[in-house]
Formats: sequence, C-alpha cells, structure tokens
Amino acid sequence: MDDKKLLVQKIKELKQKKNAIILAHCYQSIEVDEVADFVGDSLYLSREAAKTNADIIVFAGVYFMAETAKILSPSKKVLIPDKTAGCLMAEMINLEKIKEFKKKNPNVPVVCYVNSTAEVKAQCDICCTSANAVNIVKSLGAKDVLFVPDKNLGNYVSSKIEDVNVICYEGYCPIHQDLTVNDVIKKKDLYPLAKVLVHPECQKDVLNLADFIGSTSGIMKYVKESKDNEFIIVTEIGVVERLQRDYPDKKFIHISQNAICDNMKKISLEDIYKSLDEEIYEIKIEENLIKSAIRPIERMISIN
Ligand code: 13P
Ligand code: SF4
Repeated sequence: MDDKKLLVQKIKELKQKKNAIILAHCYQSIEVDEVADFVGDSLYLSREAAKTNADIIVFAGVYFMAETAKILSPSKKVLIPDKTAGCLMAEMINLEKIKEFKKKNPNVPVVCYVNSTAEVKAQCDICCTSANAVNIVKSLGAKDVLFVPDKNLGNYVSSKIEDVNVICYEGYCPIHQDLTVNDVIKKKDLYPLAKVLVHPECQKDVLNLADFIGSTSGIMKYVKESKDNEFIIVTEIGVVERLQRDYPDKKFIHISQNAICDNMKKISLEDIYKSLDEEIYEIKIEENLIKSAIRPIERMISIN
C-alpha cells in the first residue's frame, strides 16, 4: 500500500475510534475528499454541522466555517487542522462600523454573509450564504437592509429584489474580485460554445457575461442538469477539479490560474491526521458569544 493510501486508512480508523466526522469545503485540496464524510458549500456544511451526533468535528475549511460549526454544536469538540487558514473577506469587517450603523439605523436589519467572525454574527439579525442570500433578504420583508461584508454578493441580491434597498458594506473576496471581463472574453474566444457559470462574489461586469450565476452548489447543480458539454467555471479551482472528477466526459475550463484561495489549500491529509490524533486546534468560543452568534445562524437554517 502506498503512503497516501495508508494515511487515508489511518485517518478513517481514527475517525471511527473517536466517533469523529470530517466536513470539507469544495475549495479544499481534492485529496481531502477521500477522508471527508461531507463535502459541500457553506450552507450544506453548516446544516450538517447542526445535525451530527459525532463527538468530534474536524473542519477542513477556513476558520469562520469551523467557528460556525462550534456555534451550532457547542457541546462537541470542533477542530481545525490549520488555525492560520483564514478568510480574507471575513477579515475585512470592522465590528465597530457595524455597531455604529446599528446605532444610527436601529430599524434596519443587518444580514451577514456566513463568511464572518462569531463577534460579527452576534451583532447581526440573520446570516446567509451565497446559496440562499436572495431568499434570506426577501424573507425579511424590510425596505432597507445592511448587507455585510460582500459588496458584490450584496449588489447581486439587490439586482434580484427590486423593492429592497440593499446597503452594501465595502468588503469583497479578493479571489473573485480580481476576475475580469477580459478573463472571460479570452476563454470564450477559445471555447465559444462553453456555458459561462459565475459565482456571485464576482464583480457586476463579470456577472453580466454569465449564462448562469450561482453559488458553489448552484453551479454544481446546473452542470448536473445541463445537456451542454463545455463550461467556463468562474470561481475557485476546487469547484473545477470536483466537476472534472464527477463528470469526466464533460470539459471544464477554469477561468484563471489566479482563482485559487491559498487559505483553502492549507490543510493536507497529514494535517488532518495530526489534528484528529492530537485533537488540535480546538475552536473555543465563550458561552455568551455562542448564545448571541447562534441566533442569526439558526434563523437562516430555519428559513431554508
Ligand atoms: P459558498 O461555499 O457558500 O459558495 O461560498 C464560497 C466561498 O467563497 C466560501 O468561502
Ligand atoms: Fe474567503 Fe474568498 Fe477564500 Fe472564500 S475564496 S475563503 S471568501 S478569501
């Protein structure tokens, strides 16, 4: 047996022994899928984290995702194999600015993308992910809404709901923000028949070139149901790798070699083994903060 197979087997044995599960985001290195119990986007993984009976959750993702799992399952041990795996967009939020906005606009609900810290969630009325953002904002029935932190997703939501004034925070995901119209045109010139599938964290002019705009799960569902054979995938490379693995007869063109989230690639199989074996790095959140941060997440889960 080669080294990698042996490591996979050891992780599986350890999982069983410790009654642990592994949740992995679709942007993780694809080798992580071999040991994962659930692989998916933010919404799917937060739902699974809420449901599990495991004693230990190992989160192969970025920090806010493991934190969300801990908030939803406070009695469980939640581990992140690399505690430096952060989300650049989540780090753009200034908590004081949100508090200030709320003071000045006490009747405006604050919707926060799940890509945010526990402290930020605790200040917000409801969470959303890219898969449910439009429905969540609609569900509030409000005239004005503050959407934090992703201005691109916020603007996309706004374009889908005419009668709500969506006030966007000035944050963004650098990986999606940097993708350009020119990137799309170049690929479309090479593959004129390919359908262009775009994540809503991209800028508006890129979204305008899309045949379909959707979250990670939305893009995957579109491919599953499509009769087309070529797709230009305008999001992180992990989605492209999984699509190519799952649909080997179709062709998937990644928009740019720059569309890689380095933080999402930090966790290796070795890290997962070490994490489970030594039970590191444990996510710890103060009880009162959990109580405040769970409200907007549970509200989101109940709506969808
Ligand atoms: P989703 O998993 O909700 O599509 O979000 C994409 C993303 O950037 C996660 O960090
Ligand atoms: Fe954060 Fe963007 Fe990386 Fe997702 S892709 S974890 S939003 S930096």
